[in-house]
Amino acid sequence: MHNFNYYVPTDIFFGKGQISQLPAQIKKYGSSVLLVYGGGSIKKTGIYDTIVNQMKENGIPFQELSGVEPNPRIQSVYAGVKLCREHGIDVVLGVGGGSSIDCAKAIAAGVKYDGDAWDLFKNPSLIQDALPVLSVLTISATGSEMDGFSVVTNLETKDKIGVCANCMIPKASILDPTYTYTVPKFQTASGIADIMSHILETYFNTTEETFISDRISEGLLKACLKYGKTAVEDPTNYEARANLMWCSSLAINGITKASVDFSNFSWTCHAIEHPLSAFYDVTHGAGLAILTPNWMEYVLSDKTVDKFAEYGINVFGIDAAKDRYDIAKEAIAKTKEFLVSLGLPMSLKDLGIADESNFEAMAEKAVARTSIGFVSLNKEDVVQILKMCM
Ligand code: NZQ
Ligand code: ZN
Repeated sequence: MHNFNYYVPTDIFFGKGQISQLPAQIKKYGSSVLLVYGGGSIKKTGIYDTIVNQMKENGIPFQELSGVEPNPRIQSVYAGVKLCREHGIDVVLGVGGGSSIDCAKAIAAGVKYDGDAWDLFKNPSLIQDALPVLSVLTISATGSEMDGFSVVTNLETKDKIGVCANCMIPKASILDPTYTYTVPKFQTASGIADIMSHILETYFNTTEETFISDRISEGLLKACLKYGKTAVEDPTNYEARANLMWCSSLAINGITKASVDFSNFSWTCHAIEHPLSAFYDVTHGAGLAILTPNWMEYVLSDKTVDKFAEYGINVFGIDAAKDRYDIAKEAIAKTKEFLVSLGLPMSLKDLGIADESNFEAMAEKAVARTSIGFVSLNKEDVVQILKMCM
């Protein structure tokens, strides 16, 4: 086991009706709120009214930043920072999915930084402080509700960059699984692919003696397999929605990577997906669903076959007596089969990407952010993987 520091300070309020905890959490950290949300789903579902009524009843002044885009843009962050400064806001509340919560985090850090908030993405060491962030989650996917990451896109430079800082970890998050009942099938499925990718990106590492991390990861992956299809086909199934919601938080809150040597894994599929989104604005999880099985096939070798076999045996229950390569290939096929069963696209063409003209530029951006890891990839490797995805 590798040495580690495990720091997860988020107060989680999980379950039906936990929104009642929100006013007390706001008062714990400040007195005036910036409510950050997306394109309007929270208005349709009534979550917006619930929160606004709570603020009014509790005398909490608030401002709103609406219209945060899926794959949030730096311009939304600028707008939020401006509102916070103009109105003396001291708590930033993200309501929605990863996009709203990530935008809330970037705003919170941007307020405390004296220059252009995009600097924080180019140089994360500049993130020294942030306003307290709270979140109300409405879609199970990114785990932003319990981690320090913020992922923001700059369309001008075609960069989508994720940065991480302890000061951006939400102080408290409300996780009510019934809030995810209205998430459309495609977004539900994409969220599941994202959760699985977060687990797999860490699971495939070369640190020895990571027994606890590995078994936790396998358990979480099994939860995705058990409940994924149910959530897509029966959206108001509480058990499925609840398990996936908690799974999304645990997949990336550090529990699966404690004890793993950071130089042993590199989040390769995410490193390739981010330029994919920056160039084509694709849904994050859908991009990962296409990349993951192709990445697996590409990196399968004598050096990696044992880990893939372990994955096949422990997650899919493949007979351990079979040949290691056969188990590994079956595991990759089963991964793909599962993602297909959720209705996810399986090629970049399905996402409307007609040609390979941007692959070189995308690969360059991908390798700029991942050099070491389970299997080290260069620019040409990334281009090959992207071609396999067509
Ligand atoms: O914008 P609204 O109207 O709210 O609609 C959203 C959006 O269209 C909709 N939605 C969310 N909850 C809903 C709902 N529709 C109906 N009912 C509900 N209850 O779903 C769409 C997608 O929302 P979004 O927030 O974009 O999804 P997600 O949570 O997947 O977030 C994706 C973003 O997070 C980043 C991604 O790169 C992407 O930018 N990531 C953040 C990470 C983190 N902070 O740790 C890690 C991830 O790897 C990822 O990179
Ligand atoms: Zn992700």
